[in-house]
Amino acid sequence: MPATKKGILNRLNNNFAKLTPGGIREFDYQASSIPGIIKLTLGEPDFNVPAAMKQAAINSINDNDSHYAPGNGTLDLRQAIAHFMQDRYQLNYDPENEIAVTVGATEGIYASLSAIINPGDEILVATPTFPLYMVVTKILGGTPVEIDTSDDNFILTPTKLQSILDKHPNAKGLILNYPSNPTGVTYTKAQVQALAEAIKATNLVVIADEIYSELVYDGPHTSIASFIPSQTLVLNGASKSHAMTGYRIGFIAGPKELMKPVSAIHAMMVTAASDPAMAAAVAAFGTDAGKEATLKMKEAYKQRRDFVVDALKQLGFNITTPNGAFYIFAKIPAQFGNNDLKFATDLANQGKVAVIPGSFFGAGGQGYVRISYATSMDTLKQAMTNIAEFINKED
Ligand SMILES: Cc1ncc(COP(=O)(O)O)c(C=O)c1O
Repeated sequence: MPATKKGILNRLNNNFAKLTPGGIREFDYQASSIPGIIKLTLGEPDFNVPAAMKQAAINSINDNDSHYAPGNGTLDLRQAIAHFMQDRYQLNYDPENEIAVTVGATEGIYASLSAIINPGDEILVATPTFPLYMVVTKILGGTPVEIDTSDDNFILTPTKLQSILDKHPNAKGLILNYPSNPTGVTYTKAQVQALAEAIKATNLVVIADEIYSELVYDGPHTSIASFIPSQTLVLNGASKSHAMTGYRIGFIAGPKELMKPVSAIHAMMVTAASDPAMAAAVAAFGTDAGKEATLKMKEAYKQRRDFVVDALKQLGFNITTPNGAFYIFAKIPAQFGNNDLKFATDLANQGKVAVIPGSFFGAGGQGYVRISYATSMDTLKQAMTNIAEFINKED
């Protein structure tokens, strides 16, 4: 095994040094070594990939569909995505040049931020949030500006946005994610519209990560692109809606001129997504079987959400009811103070339930924990029993 030459160690990308080590996967990894641990840590659906999607991938392999696809993805898939965006959200995108298929929404985040960030650029991020936005912004030499939304029930209001813009008038982009990871909170149509009105008066590029858009429990999902399509890149994908995290299919939709650099950067990084995974995604986004599969999973998630929210409230957690995704962001009971890292560590070690400390998700997350309910009802029942024992012992 080669040892790394000492002299090259200070030649790495300096921006890496700005990243805070640890985080969700590290906490999950540490917790995994605790005997008997129940993990409510990751945003990983517990469902299998629906049969029609699996069959489409198998057919693709058997048909020797094994060559470089067009950079933006197969036309079949872009057409299926255009259909999905129109059918679910009444958004119109031209499959020819307004949609790019990415390797998960993760690559979509990287490609879209790469297209707008020059070193030193400020990117506004509504927090608490999925930490990857901050990480990628920093790697690209940009500066994330966190907007703490915790005192507005985790909704970015036009007033809050304006007050941040007064201090950061040159900010280039705004990242929004709803339904939200980690809060599960989503925006009503009126909230989206009001925010969009405020953004319209700016030249902010909006990166709208709507990966959980299919998992809204009451009422429809309203994309911010319905109001300000000309300055919005919508990110989405099959990972959460169709339990296809391992297939790595995401997409970006946006106006043509904005999509040009995004698509170019995407193609330079990965060439294209893989053929069998794209074939599966055609079934996910373009067929009734794909739509029905999501609805079934959504029903199960909703039952789990209701069960866990009730159980946690009874134990003294304070919760803004999550209307989407599969997370609950719970304020830890008052007797435990505000140290979410200590609470989550003690709960893992003593109560044998792993949840993610809220402060990992940026400003406004302190004193909270994120609980993922993308796991079976039996597991959730046992987890709530363990949490109750842990809390009652500490009382
Ligand atoms: C808000 C958000 N965006 C993007 C992703 C990544 O999605 P993908 O698996 O499609 O890369 C996740 C995964 O947890 C997420 O929570």
